[in-house]
Amino acid sequence: MPLLIVKSPKKMQALAESIRADGKTIGLVPTMGALHDGHLKLVDIAGKKADIVIVSIFVNPAQFAPGEDFGKYPRSFKSDCEKIEKAGARIVFHPSTRDIYPEDYSTFIDPGRIGSILDGARRPGHFKGVATICAKLFNITKSHIAVFGQKDGQQLAVIKRMVRDLNLDIDIIKAPIVRTAAGVAMSSRHSYLSEKGLEKAKVIRKSLLLAKEMIAGGERSTKTIENRMRKLIQAVPETKVDYISFDRWDDLEPMNKLLGRVMISLVTVIEGVRLLDNEIIRIEN
Ligand code: PAJ
Repeated sequence: MPLLIVKSPKKMQALAESIRADGKTIGLVPTMGALHDGHLKLVDIAGKKADIVIVSIFVNPAQFAPGEDFGKYPRSFKSDCEKIEKAGARIVFHPSTRDIYPEDYSTFIDPGRIGSILDGARRPGHFKGVATICAKLFNITKSHIAVFGQKDGQQLAVIKRMVRDLNLDIDIIKAPIVRTAAGVAMSSRHSYLSEKGLEKAKVIRKSLLLAKEMIAGGERSTKTIENRMRKLIQAVPETKVDYISFDRWDDLEPMNKLLGRVMISLVTVIEGVRLLDNEIIRIEN
């Protein structure tokens, strides 16, 4: 079956309804396009959990603040579709901005604290935009499951919270972080980096592994761990730490004591590009 490209939300809903009426399950992979192997891993996982996989491609203006990279965000629809077809998905949902946000659009979902800390504090309104588009995509595609990458750990936590809080009838699945051979978490925004910048980005993973090692060795002071991570990163020229944070997974409550499931989030700025990475670990005692 060739890949089906659907643009109209109404047609997508009707198609989803007929898939459901056939007794088949639907898996959604929401994306903004410029697909790389990280996205394709999500497609692969969705294919294992659902009969029909829909990949949405929509660069969502509501999650970009004024002055951010909405205008220059990489767009490569044709090659994205080729990759999606190869990865085994059957449907691409690619709506227009006007169909998603008509001129008098006014309803948004506010995730509250979980969306206003960490990246939400640096990008006010970002997770409101993310939560809103995801809720719309869930309703339009009538999906049984949706797959999100751990790479954007806070986004995943925000979506899981929204699904719980609003009783949305969908299962959210966490996919592992896919990395380049050099260990850098893949990102569509790598296209903004020079080769040198990408080389510098190797330190991100290194510093997360250092944190893991320190914790395995018994270190429990987040201050001490954070300082060592910062030192390692700042030793690389023109590489800045935006933030390092230790939060309880998956409600992102701050950790007074390093115990249980912890997400170590690290955002690094290289050549003006914010690069997100994290580790979720379990600390037994
Ligand atoms: P986008 O950045 O295109 O990412 C789409 C999905 O791919 C997200 O779930 C993200 O976590 C996942 N992903 C990105 N890089 C990954 C990597 N290296 N390994 C594993 N998964 C990775 O995230 C968004 O789009 C948008 O905010 C969206 C959810 C589509 C809402 O607009």
